[in-house]
Amino acid sequence: MSSSAKSMEGKVCLVTGATSGLGKATATALAGLGATVILGCRDRAKGEAVKSEISAKTGNASLDLFQADLSSQKSIRQGAEDVLSRHARLHVLVNQAGLYVSQRQVTVDGLEMMFAVNHLAYFSLTHHLLPALKAAGSARVVNGSGGAEAAGNIHFDDLQGEKKWSAFRALAQSKLGNFLFTYELARRLEGTGVTTNVMHPGGVKTELGKGAGGPFGLALRLMRPFMDTPEKGAETLVYLASAPELAGVNGGYYVKNKPAKSSARSRDKELAARLWKVSAELAGLPA
Ligand SMILES: NC(=O)c1ccc[n+]([C@@H]2O[C@H](COP(=O)([O-])OP(=O)(O)OC[C@H]3O[C@@H](n4cnc5c(N)ncnc54)[C@H](OP(=O)(O)O)[C@@H]3O)[C@@H](O)[C@H]2O)c1
Repeated sequence: MSSSAKSMEGKVCLVTGATSGLGKATATALAGLGATVILGCRDRAKGEAVKSEISAKTGNASLDLFQADLSSQKSIRQGAEDVLSRHARLHVLVNQAGLYVSQRQVTVDGLEMMFAVNHLAYFSLTHHLLPALKAAGSARVVNGSGGAEAAGNIHFDDLQGEKKWSAFRALAQSKLGNFLFTYELARRLEGTGVTTNVMHPGGVKTELGKGAGGPFGLALRLMRPFMDTPEKGAETLVYLASAPELAGVNGGYYVKNKPAKSSARSRDKELAARLWKVSAELAGLPA
């Protein structure tokens, strides 16, 4: 935990992927700082179990659930509407839910799974929750991503990997998408009181890629003994969500609580604008 992190009492935070790994550690830390935490879960029973666990661990009972399958745009919209019916103001949104799949999977919306969950869900959930973030006066959108962005490209001629797909290619595309989304969102949020930053947690021992095959799965297994705990990995997410000194900091990239530089491609404004437009079309949202 950052020593500069102050109490989050009176703040409402939504964390996606709160049932496991980095998201769960982030939600627990924010609850420990006194925030009201809305736990993102795809399975309500799993969400309820984690809610009880976090409440017992932190002594904070001010917890709620955001239930949605983030691979479905309809489910994201419904889950967001449900949250907005109870919370008019949201101070922090942490987009952290994500996955790695070894075989190409297609969502109910006909999209490639990693594109849909790792990138498009960030885009549409943020869009749906923006009124509550703006209503808070001062709010933060924290986007969890990964270093694979540096190897990524946005394959506009084959975004869903129908012609050519490999797990790493799709993962890297989705992570680059997080950066392009964050930087474009930051430009669009200037002057609104809402800021956004992106981070890479380093290698963290979570459920990610467990049982994955191929070179990525092998690399994960070999690296596992040297990886950080979820609590350590989540420190930068918590820092971006709560550190007072980051008030007003917008469009940054952080690794281990320090500003970092992402790839040249991730900072390409034209690429970001193009991805934004396509993402809006795919999510059925205004550009
Ligand atoms: N761990 C690392 O070393 C590392 C490094 C860089 C980046 N990342 C990124 O972090 C993300 C994964 O986080 P993690 O490492 O903490 O893994 P994890 O332990 O597997 O947690 C993933 C979380 O995302 C949720 N999730 C997955 N698909 C979902 C869906 N369709 N709808 C709703 N929730 C869904 C999971 O819910 P369930 O509990 O229901 O499965 C779980 O809460 C990935 O995007 C990954 O690329 C991780």
